[in-house]
Amino acid sequence: MKTQTIKFKDRNNNYSIVIGNNILKVLPQKIKQVCPKSKKIAVFFDAGVPVKFRKSIAKHLKKYQLSFFNFKGTEKEKSLKSVNLLLNKLFSKNFNRSDLVLSVGGGITGDLVGFVSSIYKRGVNFINVPTTLLSQVDAAVGGKTGVNSSFGKNMVGSFFQPKLVVVDTDFLKSLKKKEMICGYAEILKHAIIKDKSFFNWLKKNTKYIFLKQSKQLIFAIKKSCKIKLFFVNKDVHERDLRMNLNFGHTFAHAIEVKNNYSKKITHGEAVLAGMVLATKLSISKKICNKKDLKEIMQIYKTNNLSYTFKKYENYKEILKLIPFLKNDKKNNDEKINFILLKKIGKTGKPNKYKISINELRKQVKELTQY
Ligand SMILES: NC(=O)c1ccc[n+]([C@@H]2O[C@H](COP(=O)([O-])OP(=O)(O)OC[C@H]3O[C@@H](n4cnc5c(N)ncnc54)[C@H](O)[C@@H]3O)[C@@H](O)[C@H]2O)c1
Repeated sequence: MKTQTIKFKDRNNNYSIVIGNNILKVLPQKIKQVCPKSKKIAVFFDAGVPVKFRKSIAKHLKKYQLSFFNFKGTEKEKSLKSVNLLLNKLFSKNFNRSDLVLSVGGGITGDLVGFVSSIYKRGVNFINVPTTLLSQVDAAVGGKTGVNSSFGKNMVGSFFQPKLVVVDTDFLKSLKKKEMICGYAEILKHAIIKDKSFFNWLKKNTKYIFLKQSKQLIFAIKKSCKIKLFFVNKDVHERDLRMNLNFGHTFAHAIEVKNNYSKKITHGEAVLAGMVLATKLSISKKICNKKDLKEIMQIYKTNNLSYTFKKYENYKEILKLIPFLKNDKKNNDEKINFILLKKIGKTGKPNKYKISINELRKQVKELTQY
């Protein structure tokens, strides 16, 4: 059983992300290291994850007083109501701060359980075991936790780092293709914004990621986590540099809202479309070259992902997105704050490209010409 480890360190926190295939057996030894005083463990388990993993976790952690709680990983359940429910589970079992809360699930479960851990008695030990590709390369990295409110997605939350993240690629075997695409979109984003050689590696190896080959998956997850941590470490509270991670997400957000978060277009598909639109906008702003767009579009074409942006090659369809761009919560004034691309591996400075709605409307025609 080979594992790869990435270390996170900032002024207040220090933890590891352990990555490998079939590695849940590392849990007891690692928990002993990072939470030596824990006696009780509450495992919040995403009901979509195959039950064999629940059995495996129960077996590996049999020395602890274990409580399992199944959780339905939907955006509707990622709510303050669920927060209250989960808090009450911990109170009823009389958990104290030296005990441990374990999240086993996708980004929804991890965000909710992380948030609950951050506020239960002002912070209880939290370990994240992400089970989707998106949560392994993105959601479980960086310490953002939270839930939705009637005013929008992820509107209530906290910054709270786990004691440990265990990424086991064995979970991905049961994951649907659409969910793999969601994770892949973030992997590709990380390469585009920071690492040209990783982008070149993806040109050759994307097909193996979708075939779920563990060697390539482990490499891509590790690279991806490292890139995300690079930005997080420099700017935990998302004042400037971390905003680079929003590349493609301003358009993606508009696409998702415009489609009422319909299952027809997933977050990852919207991000894939959004990155093409943001690259086109970068060209029309004369900071990026057409050849970079061509290279990006080629990777989509080779891996049958071009369907994600086809609709947004149409002038009217892009125009229709504009009213939905305005409500992005990262905009800190009237104009729309875009992360643009200079070239593959390098973005423009955050907060530098703020574009008014009128200016954007004028630019749409140009976006359809590339
Ligand atoms: N905290 C952050 O920094 C951050 C970053 C990105 C996204 N997010 C959040 O993450 C969430 C999306 O996460 P996600 O894409 O993992 O979605 P998700 O948690 O909804 O999981 C997707 C689906 O896969 C199922 N599933 C989970 N693991 C599985 C497995 N191993 N096999 C089969 N099915 C499995 C789930 O039950 C669910 O139906 C959003 O709520 C988003 O806001 C957070």
